[in-house]
Amino acid sequence: MIYRPYTPEDFAALYAIEELCFEPLFRFGRRSMRLFIGRANAATWLAEEDGELKGFAIVEWTGHKSVVSVSGPSLRECKSRITAYIQTIEVAPEARRRGIGRALLGHLEDSALTAGAEWIRLHVDAENANAIRLYEAQGYHCQGRRENYYPLGRAALIYRKRLDPDSVS
Ligand SMILES: CC(C)(COP(=O)(O)OP(=O)(O)OC[C@H]1O[C@@H](n2cnc3c(N)ncnc32)[C@H](O)[C@@H]1OP(=O)(O)O)[C@@H](O)C(=O)NCCC(=O)NCCS
Repeated sequence: MIYRPYTPEDFAALYAIEELCFEPLFRFGRRSMRLFIGRANAATWLAEEDGELKGFAIVEWTGHKSVVSVSGPSLRECKSRITAYIQTIEVAPEARRRGIGRALLGHLEDSALTAGAEWIRLHVDAENANAIRLYEAQGYHCQGRRENYYPLGRAALIYRKRLDPDSVS
């Protein structure tokens, strides 16, 4: 299996995996997908075997300044905090349970760390047991739940993980 960054020629094969993984109501549209992939503060990783795409995943990151200490009226120390967000991670049905999801997740975490992120978070359908097992097995913890986040009133669970700068591969 080869893991490599996305190039624009990969879009049709990538979107074919989206169509295999999600029913129409739950899919990202082509336009949204292109938007996520094209963001400057995002990375898209592909899993490819014998020239065929088997999976992909997208992470993005945003930074904000926060006050970390106040030692007087004018002595405010600000620090830039960057958080990464996993848009999606998808493996073609015939290629599942071979460690591809776990490897893609590792690449997303490495990209987030390289961008300076301290935390990585995601939403997952509360009924998506396979994805939840993957995230929990990789050290993600559930931080909350949002009702009606997905179509048909399905709830999302919010997971996050603290990234370890010493673990970048
Ligand atoms: C979730 C998904 C990405 C997992 O991909 P995968 O390549 O099959 O996952 P891996 O083989 O790397 O599994 C890693 C670990 O996750 C857990 N896991 C993943 N799929 C599982 C399943 N069907 N049953 C039980 N545990 C599972 C296991 O702990 C597994 O480790 P193990 O095989 O050593 O027991 C894949 O099922 C998928 O594409 N689903 C549809 C798209 C989707 O729902 N994406 C998530 C969006 S939030």
